[in-house]
Amino acid sequence: MKFAGKVAVITGSGRKQGLGEAIARRLSEEGATVVIADIGGSRDAATPDAMIGAEAEMREIAASMPGAASTFSCDVRDPDQVRALAAHAVAAHGSLDIWVNNAGIGYIMKPLGEVSPEDWRAVIDVNLTGAWFGLQAAAEVMIAQGRGGRIVNIASQAAKSGFMHAQAYTASKHGLVGLVRSASIELGAHGITVNNVCPNHVTTGLGKWQNEHFAAVQGISVEEYLRNMASRIPLGRPGLPEDTANAVAFLCSAEAAYITGESMNVSGGEEPH
Ligand SMILES: NC(=O)c1ccc[n+]([C@@H]2O[C@H](COP(=O)([O-])OP(=O)(O)OC[C@H]3O[C@@H](n4cnc5c(N)ncnc54)[C@H](O)[C@@H]3O)[C@@H](O)[C@H]2O)c1
Repeated sequence: MKFAGKVAVITGSGRKQGLGEAIARRLSEEGATVVIADIGGSRDAATPDAMIGAEAEMREIAASMPGAASTFSCDVRDPDQVRALAAHAVAAHGSLDIWVNNAGIGYIMKPLGEVSPEDWRAVIDVNLTGAWFGLQAAAEVMIAQGRGGRIVNIASQAAKSGFMHAQAYTASKHGLVGLVRSASIELGAHGITVNNVCPNHVTTGLGKWQNEHFAAVQGISVEEYLRNMASRIPLGRPGLPEDTANAVAFLCSAEAAYITGESMNVSGGEEPH
């Protein structure tokens, strides 16, 4: 129970089988009180119903946690809502110790010439600017509490390597590498660590959609696409949500107290740098 007495916020954790749900479950299993935060409902064309965590699903996920949990609807593109999420953690559960910027969109995938300014902004606004808002809001509360903290962003293999049809996604995730490098310098004095976890393709969540897209582009079945993917990965399989959750739990633990500003691959050896 290494997180007993800790309160953790996980953005984008309101979709079943997503990485956020797995992260929340892992932290909850080890004693953390978790806030299942997600957008809660479609707000615009960039957040279609089929791709987002709705309030009913958020409540089901919170109820399935082994420990105490609450839900909070928050669009990470709005800094006021993100600050309200941080305030909710303290008001409802007494503190804020762990913040995981997991919310992301990865379903706008198009050839370079077809990407509109709206497409570009939609991805950057959630994946990069949303994480920055989260980092700011979490750091403000953690600094005021005066007992350190842990901030983890779920970046991607796309934070280290390029992917076709994913210029905005790749740029947003590369941006997170710079964000933690800068923020860790300022937050070190407060005992707050800031790191990225960089998973390769996970076959659930938005990775499922990306796998279907790339299989269609290559004119092969998803099964064949996944077999090809597994053959490139030294450990012989695509990632699981639990692989990412384990890495987050480690970075949030006392054992990782001296690790900050890092972007840690969880890729079965596929991503070497
Ligand atoms: N699945 C993969 O293969 C993979 C690999 C590497 C990194 N990632 C990253 O992991 C994170 C989680 O993705 P996932 O695969 O679990 O997909 P997912 O679609 O299940 O999760 C993304 C979550 O973000 C939420 N979200 C979207 N826009 C939001 C907004 N404006 N405000 C608040 N929440 C919003 C969605 O509702 C959803 O619950 C993302 O940041 C993604 O880029 C995923």
